[in-house]
Amino acid sequence: MENLEPDPSDLEPIELASRDELGALQLQRMQWSLNHAYSHSAFYKGHFDQAGVHPSDLKSLNDLSLFPFTLKQDLRDHYPFGLFAVPQKQLARVHASSGTTGKPTVVGYTANDIDTWSTVVARSIRASGGRAGDILHNAYGYGLFTGGLGAHGGAEKLGCTVVPVSGGMTTRQVTLINDFKPRIITVTPSYMLSILDEFIAQGLDPRACSLAVGIFGAEPWTNAMRREIEQAFDMHAVDIYGLSEVIGPGVANECVETKDGLHVWEDHFYPEIIDPDTGVPVADGEMGELVFTSLTKEAMPIVRYRTRDLTRLLPGTARTMRRMEKVTGRSDDMMIVRGVNVFPTQIEEQIFKCADIAPHFQVELHQIDRKDVMRVNVEAKIHATDENTRKQAATQLATHIKNVVGINAEVDVKLPGAVERSLGKARRVIDHRNR
Ligand code: DLL
Repeated sequence: MENLEPDPSDLEPIELASRDELGALQLQRMQWSLNHAYSHSAFYKGHFDQAGVHPSDLKSLNDLSLFPFTLKQDLRDHYPFGLFAVPQKQLARVHASSGTTGKPTVVGYTANDIDTWSTVVARSIRASGGRAGDILHNAYGYGLFTGGLGAHGGAEKLGCTVVPVSGGMTTRQVTLINDFKPRIITVTPSYMLSILDEFIAQGLDPRACSLAVGIFGAEPWTNAMRREIEQAFDMHAVDIYGLSEVIGPGVANECVETKDGLHVWEDHFYPEIIDPDTGVPVADGEMGELVFTSLTKEAMPIVRYRTRDLTRLLPGTARTMRRMEKVTGRSDDMMIVRGVNVFPTQIEEQIFKCADIAPHFQVELHQIDRKDVMRVNVEAKIHATDENTRKQAATQLATHIKNVVGINAEVDVKLPGAVERSLGKARRVIDHRNR
């Protein structure tokens, strides 16, 4: 794989700023953002008044903890446009999350916000090893989801040639990669595995293809998955994080030369980690729930948004901006099985230890005789489809899950293609229990 460390002269000056300079900019921007939210959004005016705080109470960055949290439910309660701080005419675009239950959550952008978003995504692509002039194959979904258009705007801003494929039509994805020879691909890691299967089905060698860098996010994925993809394609696999309520993709990104967690673009998004039970901020280095405050957004400033994502903050390495550890789970995805807490990524890690099992999986939870039963549906690799091998592989995976995760799981190693595929974010857990 190529060494892709960027030339420092290609970075934005703020990426090289000292912590002091960054802190001063953050304070000034945070004061602006809180004032803007309070003065222009009825929601935030009511929210702050009810908590007995005023933007002028923010004298230092630590004073942010005086302000109330914003929850996904607040966006739902004020559906569709209730959190906006600019008149509708100034909105250049809206996006929305599909929302598995109830109304979607709607987010909005002014033209300046779209420009900020493109800037942070361009920065993310550069940190991943992308450069102006690269062909970038964008297989994140286009539409209300922020992945497609978010990656697209950043790639254009960096000066890439964008191929706006969107998700789906996997055969065509492979044809286009072979014919257009992109250097960069942006896609969810689970869908990248479907693209890998299609390469193999077409008798093509993925290591011989033009891809040098993949920028993967929108769902949790493990370092074991990173190794699998890097090995299969002879490419760098880099993590991109974001959420629509904060802006979309490009809130944080790994640097390809270190791959040691995601640098949060702290000049636009201020991170905190809180204890999810008490709401009290914890020190850097401690695990907890990630909370974000936007520092520059106009249309929909967001103050102390509880992401439900679990991680910790670490000091900067390749950049001065702090890192967040790879998000391996959301509190919403945590399964409680017979009292044991399990994240889907823990199952993913065990799957990669089994040479005969392909990394497509789905976990089903049932309640039988008042006991929780976890069934893990996986697929045999193409060379391991006979019944005996599949049985042995099932025993091997069940043993790893028992030893490492501490749960007796029923493992079903199915034939290739039998586990549901996603075109974007994979659905890892189906809970049939009555709760
Ligand atoms: O998934 C934005 C995005 C698009 C990020 C493309 C990266 C690439 P939402 O649909 O609002 O936005 O979902 C946000 O997805 O709170 C996390 O739980 C999860 N997520 C996003 N990126 C990562 C990642 C987009 N790199 C939610 N690792 C977030 C783990 C991620 N989870």
